[in-house]
Amino acid sequence: MEKTIDEKKQGESLVLDQKEGNKRKLFIESYGCAMNFSDSEIVASIMQNQGFNTTQNLEEADLVLVNTCSIRDKAEQTVRKRLEKYNAVKRDHNPKMKVGVLGCMAERLKTKFLEEEKIVDLVVGPDAYKDLPNLLAEVDEGRDAINVILSKEETYGDISPVRLNTNGVTAFVSITRGCDNMCTFCVVPFTRGRERSRDPQSIIEEINDLWNKGYKEVTLLGQNVDSYLWYGGGLKKDFKDASDIQKATSVNFSKLLDLCAVAQPKMRIRFSTSNPQDLTLDVVETMAKHQNICNHIHLPVQSGSNRILKEMNRLHTREEYMALIDNIRKIIPNCAISQDMIVGFPTETEADFQDTISLMDYVKYNFGYMFTYSERPGTMAGRNMKDDVPEAIKKRRLQDIVDLQRIHSEIKTKEWLNTTVEVLIEKESKKSDAQWSGRTPQNIVCVFPKANYKVGDFVNVKVTDCTSATLIGEGIGLSENN
Ligand code: SAH
Ligand code: F3S
Repeated sequence: MEKTIDEKKQGESLVLDQKEGNKRKLFIESYGCAMNFSDSEIVASIMQNQGFNTTQNLEEADLVLVNTCSIRDKAEQTVRKRLEKYNAVKRDHNPKMKVGVLGCMAERLKTKFLEEEKIVDLVVGPDAYKDLPNLLAEVDEGRDAINVILSKEETYGDISPVRLNTNGVTAFVSITRGCDNMCTFCVVPFTRGRERSRDPQSIIEEINDLWNKGYKEVTLLGQNVDSYLWYGGGLKKDFKDASDIQKATSVNFSKLLDLCAVAQPKMRIRFSTSNPQDLTLDVVETMAKHQNICNHIHLPVQSGSNRILKEMNRLHTREEYMALIDNIRKIIPNCAISQDMIVGFPTETEADFQDTISLMDYVKYNFGYMFTYSERPGTMAGRNMKDDVPEAIKKRRLQDIVDLQRIHSEIKTKEWLNTTVEVLIEKESKKSDAQWSGRTPQNIVCVFPKANYKVGDFVNVKVTDCTSATLIGEGIGLSENN
C-alpha cells in the first residue's frame, strides 16, 4: 500500500484485541496518508493503557477520535461531514460521547476547531499524542483540551504500536516525521513540523518484533524517506552543528535500508515516499544489493514543466529527474516507478501541461496518484499566487493524465505476461473467494487460485492474463523465501 491516499481505506474505523479490565470504549478512524493510519496505531496503543477498548459502533463510544488530513480542501470537507455525523449520534443516541480531533487539521486549525465545531472537546496535533492521558483528564472534568505543540524530538520510537485491522502480513513502520522541503503548494511542513529521524535501533527492534509475530512485509514510512538521517536525535537541519563523532557514526537512508534488510533477510522491505531531490544512487544500489528490498520507488514529480517545478520549489529540473529515472533503470532494470502529479498549479499554461504529458510518456510510470491543485491557506503558493487556472481546465487536464496513466499502466502490466513473479499472499481476492490476492515486489496486485496456499505465503505465480493494473495467474509452488 504505497498509496499516499488509499481511497478504500479512508474513514475505516479501527479495532484491536480487547484488553481485559478496560471499561471505556474508543471509536477511532483515520483519513489521509499512510502516516495517519500508522499514527492511529500509536494513539490506540496509548489509549489502551488508559482503560479504552476499541469499538466500531459510534453509538456506544465514550470517546471518538478522528485522525484528520489537510492536504487538499476536499479532505477537510470529508472530516467536517464526519463531525456532523458524530453530532447527530451524540444528540440522538449517545449524549455522554466526547469527540477529539487528531492530526493535520488539528494542527492547522488549532483553537479555531473548538470555536467553530461545538462538538469537538479535544484537539491534538501530530507531535502531542503522548499528552493524551493528561488532555483526557481535562476533558473528563468537563473542560475542552488542546495540545498542538510541534516537537524537535518526538518520533514515538519508544511506543510499540498496536496493529489495527491488520492482515497479519504487512505493516507500516515510521522512520521520519515532518518535512523540511517546503514545496510551495504543501501544508505538511506546517502541520507536521520540522524533519526528524527515528533511532535506527528502535526501527530494527520493531521490524524484528513484527517478524516474530508472523509479518512478512514492512513499509518504512516518512514524508521524505530519502532524507532520513540519524545522528543521535534532533532536527535534520541541525546536523551541521553535530559533533565530529556524531557525524562519523550517523546513519543515512541507504545505511538504514541495509541494516533493515540484513536484520530480517526474508522480510520484504518497502519504503515511501521518495523525493527526487533527496533520492541518491547509493539508495538504489542498496536496493539492488538486497533481494528482500522490493524493486519499487514511489517518486512523485508533481509537474513536467521546469518553470512550474521552480514555482513549486521542487529543487530539481525535468532533465535531472529524467536522468535519475535512467540511472534507476540502469541499476535495477525491472524497478517499478510510480508518481504523484498535480495539474492546475497557479500559472500553469497548456504548454506547461504538455511538458507533464511528455514527461509521463518518457517515464511510463507503473501507476500514479493524480490531483487538481487545491489552494491551502498559509502555504507559500496560497499566500503569494492566485489560484488562476479555471476549475474546468483543471478537471480536463486531470482527466487527460488519468487516461494517459491508464494506458501506461496497461503497457507496464502486460510486460509481466508469461513470466513468473513472486507474490506475497495478503488476503482473499475481493472478486472471488476461490482466489488469493497479493502483490509482487514491484507492488503490482496479483490474483490466483487458492490451492493449498495460505495468507503470508510467498508463492511463485505464472502470469497468464492481466487487466490494466492486476496480474492474473496460477501458483506453481512456494518461493524459496518461505
Ligand atoms: N512527501 C509526501 C507528500 C505528501 S502529499 C508523501 O509522503 O507522500 C501527497 C501528494 O498530495 C503530493 O505528492 C502531491 O501530489 C499532492 N498534494 C499535496 N499538496 C497538494 C495541494 N495543495 N493540491 C493538490 N495536491 C496536493
Ligand atoms: Fe509536502 Fe513537498 Fe514535503 S510535497 S510533504 S513539502 S516533500
